[in-house]
Amino acid sequence: MRHDEQVRQMKLLIERLDAGTNVDAGELRVQSTRTYTDTEQARRERDLFFAKTTHCLGMSGDLPEPGSFFTSDDLGLPILATRTAEGEFRAFVNSCRHRGALVETEARGTKRRFVCPFHSWTYDTEGALVGLPKSEHFGDVDPECLGLRPLPAEERHGLLFVHPDPDGELGLDELLGEWFDDEFPTWNFATMIPINRDTYDTACNWKFAMDTFGETYHFSSLHSDTLFNSFHGNVQCYDDEGRNHRMILCRREIDEMRHLPESEWDITVAGLPVYWLFPNIILMPFRAGAFLVRAYPHPEDPGRHTSRIGFYMKGELAQASGPEAAEVQDMIATIAQGFAEIIRDEDYAMGASQQAAANAGSLESVVFGRNEPALHHYHATYDAELGVESGRAVDALTGEPGRV
Ligand code: FES
Ligand SMILES: [Fe+2]
Repeated sequence: MRHDEQVRQMKLLIERLDAGTNVDAGELRVQSTRTYTDTEQARRERDLFFAKTTHCLGMSGDLPEPGSFFTSDDLGLPILATRTAEGEFRAFVNSCRHRGALVETEARGTKRRFVCPFHSWTYDTEGALVGLPKSEHFGDVDPECLGLRPLPAEERHGLLFVHPDPDGELGLDELLGEWFDDEFPTWNFATMIPINRDTYDTACNWKFAMDTFGETYHFSSLHSDTLFNSFHGNVQCYDDEGRNHRMILCRREIDEMRHLPESEWDITVAGLPVYWLFPNIILMPFRAGAFLVRAYPHPEDPGRHTSRIGFYMKGELAQASGPEAAEVQDMIATIAQGFAEIIRDEDYAMGASQQAAANAGSLESVVFGRNEPALHHYHATYDAELGVESGRAVDALTGEPGRV
């Protein structure tokens, strides 16, 4: 984020802290709990938002060198992502062109060749078929036409994007929008190195997981013994563009930073930027690196999801050597692990509790407050894209007890 924008955001936070105000969505939103439980809607969203949408599957640091690879089955088809000998990012359908077995079964690693375990057809990092045992017995096959099926893939601003449909279009300009496309390079994500990876399977819909990142109203309550020690609750900045939005959360360090000359202000000390990349990505640049959270629906059950939470350390910190640097690296890794555990043990625990209520049909709807604009935007965007009406804006809630 450019420094003038950092200063503008910090001034807004200070103004709100001093005035005891927060962002204001200008209205309430009543949200049907069906959006978290409906099996048919869940099928449609998996198809539209996952099988037919470009996704960020990680950061450049997940493929650190030629031959690095990782596999993914989060988007409904098996994907093999590689870095070629020339350092290019590629993605393929991870299915052998002989009879369709998974070619690579490991989650990640480094290889020059991928050998299918069934009959040992062999592919290189470009997906080319470079080995076909007993080819003279197999028949007349042009290896050119039996390379791994390529998927549209692009590395931009240190993020790895893949479209899970071989005929799909990445459309990254549209996906990121001008704002993120302009602001992301300022964070140098490309130089960051993965330190910590966690996967949490939780009994809540993926949107309940996303919702927990959408406000700081809960900090003084749910995180009273953890995040609230280092963050002011119920104060934030919020802006949106198209399907995406950005929040700035407010760290308590702002109380000291406000007395320094503006030229020394740093948004990663005084705040925490939270980028929300529709539909399922939360990207949070920290002082020492960045968190990338990816939430994926369960393939059948709307009441379950998987979150993948990665912490990436700034290259200059991760690569520093010596006992002092090692101590700093250990400390950062411990903080990063602790943060991921707060998401699991506090935020996602609420997600599971909300899901249980929604599954039981005990509530027809829930309410998003004026101080939760990110949740309004996220669910309104979701509804518009999927063509459903699962929520409505209201000025006030009045009427019969127990009904809205
Ligand atoms: S299915 Fe892969 S080599 Fe036969
Ligand atoms: Fe939280």
